Amino acid sequence: MRTAAVVPAAGRGERLGPGTPKALREVGGVPMLVHAVRTLARARFVDVVVVAAPPGEVAAVAALLADHEVPAEVRIVAGGASRQESVLLAVASLPPDVTAVLVHDAARPLVPVELVDAVATAVREGAEAVVPALPVADTVKVVDPDAGFVVATPDRATLRAIQTPQGFRREVLEAAHAAAGAAVATDDAGLVEALGIKVSVVPGSEEAFKVTRPIDLMLAEALFARRYADGVR
Ligand code: C5P
Repeated sequence: MRTAAVVPAAGRGERLGPGTPKALREVGGVPMLVHAVRTLARARFVDVVVVAAPPGEVAAVAALLADHEVPAEVRIVAGGASRQESVLLAVASLPPDVTAVLVHDAARPLVPVELVDAVATAVREGAEAVVPALPVADTVKVVDPDAGFVVATPDRATLRAIQTPQGFRREVLEAAHAAAGAAVATDDAGLVEALGIKVSVVPGSEEAFKVTRPIDLMLAEALFARRYADGVR
């Protein structure tokens, strides 16, 4: 089974503030995308990494990845207008012998390699789709955004925050994206669920958090400083 890691990295990252596309912003002195690609490339079963770059930055991303050592074959495609489209374009470019796909946000630069291995292993062992999940700390409510009222409070014990990498049999991921058409999901597993296919769960990692807001950048900097002090590169 050949496994590819697809990295959607084409977002502007507007919630982080204006400036460079989010994936190209530095944390721990290195662009987030480079951290993510290096970890994926170090994983036991990842044979090829495909990055969906911001459409105007394909050459810049190629230069960036060439400047930083990455221990695997890396390809770059132009991403799309949404995360979903970026993933679709990257998956469409995969070599035909790839039968398993991990999708990992460039904006999760601290993902531990052990989590990548756990997701890839679950797919190799027969899962059609697998997601890393963490219990939620806050109570989550469904609200009517227009009226500003609470509609429901789901039982917190049944809720999980879902991270990446998410792993898929290639055929399943392709079928899910093809069936989605214009329908939008915030993650790839959501499209698979819509087909009625079971999505497995593995324990997530607090370090696999997504850098979204300025406070996440501060946390990421602090964690990289600790890793570097511990001699981890
Ligand atoms: O915006 P959000 O934080 O949900 O983005 C998650 C990931 O999807 C990021 O790594 C971002 O670069 C990527 N993305 C993309 N193409 C888009 C929008 C987001 O590849 N058009």
